[in-house]
Amino acid sequence: MKAHIVTLPGDGVGTEVTAAAVAVLQGVAEHYDHHFAFEEHAIGGGAIDTFGEPLPAASLAACQRADAVLLGAVGGPKWSDPNAPVRPEQGLLALRAALGVYANLRPLQVHPALANLSPLKNEKLKDVDVLFVRELTGGAYFGAKTRSADSATDECKYTVTEIERVVRRAFELARGRRRQLTSVDKANVLETSRLWRSTVQRVAADYPDVKVEHQLVDSMAMLLLTQPSRYDVVVTENLFGDILTDEAAALAGSLGLLPSASLGNGTHGLYEPIHGSAPDIAGQGVANPVGAILSVALLLRHSLALEEEARAVEAAVHEVLQHGPRSRDLGGSAGTAAVRDAVLVALEQHACIHRAIFAGVRACG
Ligand code: NAD
Ligand code: IPM
Ligand code: MN
Repeated sequence: MKAHIVTLPGDGVGTEVTAAAVAVLQGVAEHYDHHFAFEEHAIGGGAIDTFGEPLPAASLAACQRADAVLLGAVGGPKWSDPNAPVRPEQGLLALRAALGVYANLRPLQVHPALANLSPLKNEKLKDVDVLFVRELTGGAYFGAKTRSADSATDECKYTVTEIERVVRRAFELARGRRRQLTSVDKANVLETSRLWRSTVQRVAADYPDVKVEHQLVDSMAMLLLTQPSRYDVVVTENLFGDILTDEAAALAGSLGLLPSASLGNGTHGLYEPIHGSAPDIAGQGVANPVGAILSVALLLRHSLALEEEARAVEAAVHEVLQHGPRSRDLGGSAGTAAVRDAVLVALEQHACIHRAIFAGVRACG
């Protein structure tokens, strides 16, 4: 197949992990006979420096034309002055809003070989397989903001439409998994959460085959650590989802491992690791590219409907996490390029086995 992919490497390690992820997409194209055309554009702090704005019109237009968008990360100390008039993160938020990608899927699995890296006891991590569905284009991130010398406000607003579409997506996803949905809110305090909860309750009637529970976000933060294997699909609003998924990444062993897919109504999607620009390690070639590479698997699955290829990438990553090489955040000493190359070798092996089965032959080198 032919696909047109826009890359937005962004800032800090964003550029490093995106380069590795693109190499994996090129590997997929080569081994499975696809043609992927890449077009790179500016976003974030680098875009502010060059164009004076964090999401130049040309970047957005290219993203809108593409079949899928692969993003690294934005931000960094250079642009973090709290009084700065324009910030890299605004570019990312504007992109999510303009693409209408309201459902942010953040899968969490714990690789058994990495369980020792988690601060939790190994037995708690057995069978952890959670899909977070984070609302991505509403809530406090997008409400009106005010600032005066001695006060500031961030309005948190949700409409029923905004809640219902992401909740329905979560129910649909639960149907393809273990049919359990946990909706996380703060309905004991927040009006937006009460609207959220009543919407979930109403929509649940359309999904009688899915078991629904409601959990307050503060206790959810605790339960994620004490009973992580209890959860299947977790749906929540924008800010709660942001915080809970960084917490969840600690269970997997590193923030560098988790991918994400941001989807709207069609197949168009924005794919990015959940981590940021990691200024403390940027420019050293040591960032873990796994979150970005697993985001490529999600891109293949959700935007290009290439399930076999998506699984091959996931299997290749699984193998590398099992046998190494491992990056520094995982206790190893391999750089980004060495991890990328190991994934490419494992991918080639998978593709060969796939072709051999397809052709009915048994040899694979
Ligand atoms: P961060 O995610 O950049 O880093 C947190 C910690 O995790 C750091 O110690 C970092 O070294 C480590 N880490 C992150 N990614 C890693 C990887 N791939 N491999 C190994 N270690 C990794 O969070 P932060 O330091 O709080 O934020 C830095 C900047 O990134 C901020 O400007 C923030 O706004 C931005 N940010 C952007 C995104 C995004 O673009 N999607 C996401 C989160 C944060
Ligand atoms: C993420 C990031 C972003 C968010 C920031 C950089 C705007 O933390 O993708 O998780 O809060 O959504
Ligand atoms: Mn975040």
